[in-house]
Order: sequence, then structure tokens, then C-alpha cells
Amino acid sequence: MDKRICLITGATRGFGLSLAKKYNSLGYLVVGLARTAPPSEISGFFEAFFICDLSSEASIDNFIHKFENQFNRIDLFIHNAAIQNSYSILEAMQYSKMIDHEIAVNFSAPVKLTSALLPLLLQRKSLILIVTSLLQLGPKKSAPGYCASKAALANWTRNLRAQLSSSEIRVIEIIPGLIKTDMTSNAAKKGKEPDLLADIVIQKSHKDCIILPGARLAWFIAAFMPNFIRHKLLNGTG
Ligand SMILES: NC(=O)c1ccc[n+]([C@@H]2O[C@H](COP(=O)([O-])OP(=O)(O)OC[C@H]3O[C@@H](n4cnc5c(N)ncnc54)[C@H](OP(=O)(O)O)[C@@H]3O)[C@@H](O)[C@H]2O)c1
Repeated sequence: MDKRICLITGATRGFGLSLAKKYNSLGYLVVGLARTAPPSEISGFFEAFFICDLSSEASIDNFIHKFENQFNRIDLFIHNAAIQNSYSILEAMQYSKMIDHEIAVNFSAPVKLTSALLPLLLQRKSLILIVTSLLQLGPKKSAPGYCASKAALANWTRNLRAQLSSSEIRVIEIIPGLIKTDMTSNAAKKGKEPDLLADIVIQKSHKDCIILPGARLAWFIAAFMPNFIRHKLLNGTG
């Protein structure tokens, strides 16, 4: 039987690299994507690696063209790549451009990639994993574009699951709290280890929605006291 193919965005470091290593160890052929090539010490985890800037439609089109020439199926598609910038409407010269950029990478790119590669996903009993964030629940004051993009992504994920319910594709949302990665290197609180969280994703992949340690308590409290959690997230203490 063909080996299963896992396509993962943002696979060079952080949570994406942990997931890539984990699925490689489970026997998947892992195909990575990022703006920069993986360093030599991790390149062995990848069957193929594509350089692609997810903020550029031309770069995404180029990737899709090259991917389809090389692969005829996808068993697991992990939308992991994202960026988070800190800025304020009172100070940023390019405020709306910065929001557009985060929306493009964090939200529009998963939408575009999923719809373009849907014919390949439909050929298998495939799985789409979409990494959102606890910050979908409410904005962190310093990160307007990131939080808005994750709220849109989470909402779209639920719609995608509903629209694909008559197919054999399963859609899983992964909701992390703080993870110890480059993205959060300036955070006051310490995040969870990405390797540990990747293990939990594998264990819980029978679920539609995987709320990871670090997000669980806040998610639970938000069901009863949404304003309390929104207040915590707003000031970066959630
Ligand atoms: N870290 C946290 O605390 C946290 C919390 C909740 C949710 N999450 C989510 O978890 C996921 C992984 O986050 P992380 O912390 O592991 O991030 P990270 O360490 O900053 O890694 C981001 C990855 O995405 C790639 N990437 C960034 N911009 C890209 C672009 N324009 N085009 C293509 N690839 C791009 C990066 O590679 P290049 O720079 O080479 O392109 C890198 O491989 C994200 O969806 C994030 O929103 C993280």
C-alpha cells in the first residue's frame, strides 16, 4: 500500500516541527512548507520541502502547481503556519497593511490551499488539522490582526467540517494555549513544550476539536464566564 502523505505548513520550527517529527515517526511521508528551507539537522524528516510565502497568492499558486506535479494524494493536511505581530492603531504607520498580512497568512492561505487541494483530499479518507488558538475567544490588546485571523479561522473550520460532513474527510480543530516557541519568546508566562502537545494531538485525533493543555481551563471557564476570560486575554494574562 502507498505510504500516507502528510502536508504541513510552517514545518521548520515550533509546533509545526514537533508535528512533522511525530507524523514522520508514525510512517507518514511528510511534506513541509515554509518561507525558508529547514536547517540540515531536521531536513531528514521531510520527503519533500517547498519554499512558499503564504502571504503571497502568486507564491501559493506556484506551490500548488509544483505539489500537484509531484504528489497525487494527501492523507493528512496540517494548517499550522501563522504569524503574530504586536502593534497599535495609535502608533503603527501601516496598521491596515499589518492586519491584511496576518489575515493573509493565518486565514486566507488555509482557505485557498484547502479549496485548491480538495480534489486530492477527496481521493482518500483524509484528515485536515487546523491549528487555531485560545485567542479566538477574545482579542489580546497588542495583537489585533492575529486574534481576528484566528477567530475567522476557527469559525471557518466549523463551517468546513459541516460542509464536508457528507464526504470521507474529517476536519479537526486544534486549540493551543501558550506554547514554548519563537512566536512567544517574549511572553511573560512559560508555554507548554511543543513535543508534548504534538503527542496529545496524536492521542486525541479521534475528536473533532482538541483543546490542548494550557487552553483547557480558560476554555472551560469561558463557557460560564466569557467576560472574565475575555478580560484576561485582553491584557495578556489569559
Ligand atoms: N506559540 C504559541 O503560544 C501558540 C499559541 C496558540 C496557537 N499557536 C499556533 O500554533 C501554530 C504554530 O505556532 P508556533 O508558535 O510554532 O510558530 P513559530 O515558531 O513562529 O513557527 C511558525 C512557522 O510558520 C512558518 N511561517 C511563518 N510565516 C510564514 C509565511 N508567510 N509563509 C509560510 N510559512 C510561514 C515559519 O517558517 P518561516 O519563518 O521560514 O516561513 C515557521 O515554520 C500557529 O498556528 C500559531 O498560531 C501558537
